[in-house]
Amino acid sequence: MMTTVHNVAPLREQIRAWRAQNLRIALVPTMGNLHRGHFSLIDLAKQHADRVVASVFVNPTQFGPNEDFTIYPRTLEADTHGLATAHCDLLFAPGVSEVYPNGLANQTRVRVPIIENDLCGAVRPGHFEGVATVVCKLFNMVTPDLAVFGEKDLQQLRVIQKFVKELNIAVEILGAPTRREANGLAMSSRNQYLTADEHDRAGQIFATLEKMRQLWQKSDATAQQIQRQGWEQLELAGMRPDYVEIRDYESLDSNILPESVASGLVAARLGKTRLIDNLMFGRRHL
Ligand code: PAF
Repeated sequence: MMTTVHNVAPLREQIRAWRAQNLRIALVPTMGNLHRGHFSLIDLAKQHADRVVASVFVNPTQFGPNEDFTIYPRTLEADTHGLATAHCDLLFAPGVSEVYPNGLANQTRVRVPIIENDLCGAVRPGHFEGVATVVCKLFNMVTPDLAVFGEKDLQQLRVIQKFVKELNIAVEILGAPTRREANGLAMSSRNQYLTADEHDRAGQIFATLEKMRQLWQKSDATAQQIQRQGWEQLELAGMRPDYVEIRDYESLDSNILPESVASGLVAARLGKTRLIDNLMFGRRHL
């Protein structure tokens, strides 16, 4: 039976009881509005731990002033039902004042240099600082042995891995493969902002990444040429790309060594919605 708690005190009480039984604990942080992608994170967590905690918290510090914080879909009842069905053990669903009791303005923050200002960070200033801050707080509240994050948000995963390593936090980070809809669109809570026509056209993001991967593996086109072609393909589908990049899969550096694995990363706007996706390209065999 899944329990739901809204405060840190009962959360810690439950964690203490599990620790006393030597149980391995996993955390799956989410902002709610859960879909099949999230439930696959719970499944992966269950394979690696004895008990799974999911958090549902729409974190205000990772949204910019003109972003969708106020309209972000909040569906706690359905999320609770879905998590119980997925055999999650504990749902932590705190309010803003529980996570930020001293308010937001003077909150201590976690900054992750360089990477936080690249790619999505370049168009969403402060976003990754907000993510790193709340994830660090969740780690300290839950003290999990491991935590699971979707590879769909590859830059977020790398930001989290970097601060965990550099702040010596004793948590293992697992990345979970991206779940896709029938047309290839990566599952995301923001997909529900799309009209039916936009939803169809959004399948072009994955098609573009697949085409780019093919060029990367099978042609001698430069990264710049492949990026430009990807950009044009997205524009033809009516999207406005923020970036179309080929980067080192691990470091997200634009300098990709011959022996390194590459990855394609895309962020594009379609109507009022901003979508992101990425695909591992592998090594280049030229
Ligand atoms: O990926 C998300 O849903 C959020 O960025 C996270 C990791 C739960 C932090 O608020």
